[in-house]
Parts: sequence; C-alpha cells; structure tokens
Amino acid sequence: MYLKKNLKNIAQYYVSNLIGGRKNTSDWEFEKYGLKTEVIQNKQLALELENACQKDGYLLFSEFLQIDQHGKYGYHLNNKWHGEQQLYRYWGKAIAKLCQYEPIERVLDFGAGNGDLGIAVIDEARKLHYKIIWSGIEINGNLISTIRQAFKRKKYEENLLQISPSINKILSSSKKSLLVFSYSLDNLAPEMFINENQDLHYPTNLMGVTVKNGVVNEIILTNEQLLKKKIQYKNGVLSQNGTSYNLHGWKLTHLQRACIPITAAKILLQSSKKVKQNSMLLIIDEFSEPNYARNEKHLNFPKDLTVFDRIFKNTTKLYNQAGNNLLYYPTYLLAYESILQSLGYTQLQIDNERTLANILAKKHIIQNIPGLCFGILAKKTSKTVNPITIKAY
Ligand SMILES: C[S@@+](CC[C@H](N)C(=O)[O-])C[C@H]1O[C@@H](n2cnc3c(N)ncnc32)[C@H](O)[C@@H]1O
Repeated sequence: MYLKKNLKNIAQYYVSNLIGGRKNTSDWEFEKYGLKTEVIQNKQLALELENACQKDGYLLFSEFLQIDQHGKYGYHLNNKWHGEQQLYRYWGKAIAKLCQYEPIERVLDFGAGNGDLGIAVIDEARKLHYKIIWSGIEINGNLISTIRQAFKRKKYEENLLQISPSINKILSSSKKSLLVFSYSLDNLAPEMFINENQDLHYPTNLMGVTVKNGVVNEIILTNEQLLKKKIQYKNGVLSQNGTSYNLHGWKLTHLQRACIPITAAKILLQSSKKVKQNSMLLIIDEFSEPNYARNEKHLNFPKDLTVFDRIFKNTTKLYNQAGNNLLYYPTYLLAYESILQSLGYTQLQIDNERTLANILAKKHIIQNIPGLCFGILAKKTSKTVNPITIKAY
C-alpha cells in the first residue's frame, strides 16, 4: 500500500510543479491563506469528528489531529506501522551507559512505541550488571499489548514498573530518573495559530474547525469559543489550567499560520513534575530548519511520514485525506530549548542524535552525521517558571 501511495505522490509532486504557473494570483492566495471548506473522504472518521464537535461546537486544530490520528477510525488503530525509527540499535547502549554513569535507576519512556528501545536499554544494562527499572507511556492500546508481550518473552518483568496510556497515571518517583522522548514529542498535535494583524506580529488568534455532514470548515476562534475549553489567548500569551505559554517570539506576516507545540510543552511540564530534582531528560527528534523573519510559508505544518513529498503546503489535502496519513509535527530546536529552560532544565547538551549516542556510548566518532535529527540531553536543576516561553527565532 505504501509503495503505491508513494509512487502516486511522487507523480503528483512533479506534475503539480510543472503546471503550477497556470493559476492566477487570487487562486494562489486563497489556496495559501484562505479558510478551507473540505470534504473528508473517510466517512466514519468524519462522523466521529462531527460527534466530538458537539460538546463545544468546534474542535481545536490539535483535537482534530488527535482524532485523525488516534480516533477509532483514525490512522493508528487501523494501520500497523506506527513510525518506529529503529534507533534502539544504538541508543540502548548509550542510555544504559548514561544511567550507570549518573547513576540513574528509573527510565520513563514517553511514546514508547513497541518497546524496542526499552528492551534494548535493559539488554545493555544487564551486560553492565546494572539494574534499570523501566516505565512506558504509550497511547496506542495495541502497542501496549506488544510491549507487555516483549517484556514477558525476554523475562524482563522485574525491570518493568508501569505501562500506561497517559502521563497522568504514572507514579511520581523519588529516585533520580531519566525521561526519554524518542520521536514522540513531534507526535503530539500542535495548536494552529494565525496572525490577523496587517504587520509582522505574534499570532493574534487560534484556529479550529467545525465538522458537519462530512465537511470540515476552518474557523478563527473567538475568545468566547476558547473559554468553552477554559483557554484564554491574549496579547500572545495562552493560558489554561493555571499555566501560561508566551508566544512573543513568533513573528508572522499577515494571515500566516504557525503550528506551535503547546501540547508538547504541557507533556514536558507534566512529566517533569513526576520526577525529582537533578533528574535528566533526553529528547531525540527531527526538527524543522531554523526560521527567518518574513518567511511567508506557513510555519511547521504537519508532515506525512508515509510519502515522498512529506509536508502539507496548505490544509486541503490534510482534511480530504484525514485518517489516511501517519502525521508528525517537527518544530524548531529553539522552541524546545526555550521550553526546557522555562522548566528549569540546564546543562543542555545538543548534538546530532547519532553523534550524541556515540558520545554517551563512548564509541569512537569517525565523522559528524549531517541531518535535522538531534539529541538534547538536559538536567533539571531549577524550578519551573510560569509563563513557559516557546520561541521561534
Ligand atoms: C514515531 S513513534 C516513536 C516510537 C518510538 N519511541 C521510537 O523511537 O521508535 C511515536 C509514538 O508516540 C506515541 N504517542 C503519540 N501520542 C502520544 C501520547 N499523547 N501519549 C503517549 N504516546 C503517544 C505513538 O502512538 C507512537 O507509538
């Protein structure tokens, strides 16, 4: 199925580039900046979205994406491939050695996938005669069963503390811990913001959608609509449940949109509350290329891991093909650096992810590996500040 989808996508990419010049400016402007009304091809998913809309009358962009990916008729519960990156091959040893060196006894793996990384960490720690207690958080129930079976098969039950679909159910630990986020923060649905101001400005509004009769409509949310979900967005600061997120660092041109990792910041905050001071955190992820002011493209739009031309230029295809794409949402390295600083993490070590794994595993580094996948290692030494800053520049 992937081969067919990919070949079709490659053909579409080149053909649309060839005929791209034919359209006039207003078509082009609407395609880029207009509020979209689109038919969702997956009828069952459309109904699921419509039902979810009924509570508050609309869905935040993040809520739409969450159902698109993890709903009953969304991508994950109807497809086997969850986007595993196979980094357990070299990160198992790196993490085991880091834990032994620090020393760290507890590992909390967020977005644990099929548990391959957890098993590899315990394999390597056992070789070092070092005991690690692992917990996993995985939203996909099918993968939770896979993880349990894998631990049982290896007879590693004594190393397994908890597997949970949500961070809220994870027990707080009084032991120094390592929080691991490997290709999972970019799996957390971002919020979509827009700048309605004529000038270069931080986002003025959040965006959402309504879904009715199989059709999705984009809307720019009013304060009243946001209050239904207990969210306030004022002067570039979003507040919810006593935590605020400062977005002054995002400068958008007129009607430009940006997907901003509010959910990822929340998860980093919640997971940091579960561990004691001096615990460590490791993020392994793909990032967007750094931004520059007055870049008029929409910023950090979702990507589809299963195709050649990964990024969605506008939201048309995203809505038409909802439930059919394995989405992920890379953002700027700087966005995570600023979030981590707000959460009291210091001593940030940032490197190409393979290079960092080799450093931690004490392997000889032959050459630096180019690419946009980084590893960030940090230690929680200070208190969290409120608001949390999320920067773009
Ligand atoms: C791209 S996979 C990465 C899996 C694995 N960590 C790896 O590096 O191969 C992202 C994983 O995060 C999980 N995930 C997404 N949102 C989540 C959430 N809110 N809570 C827990 N897990 C989540 C997905 O189900 C998926 O298994």
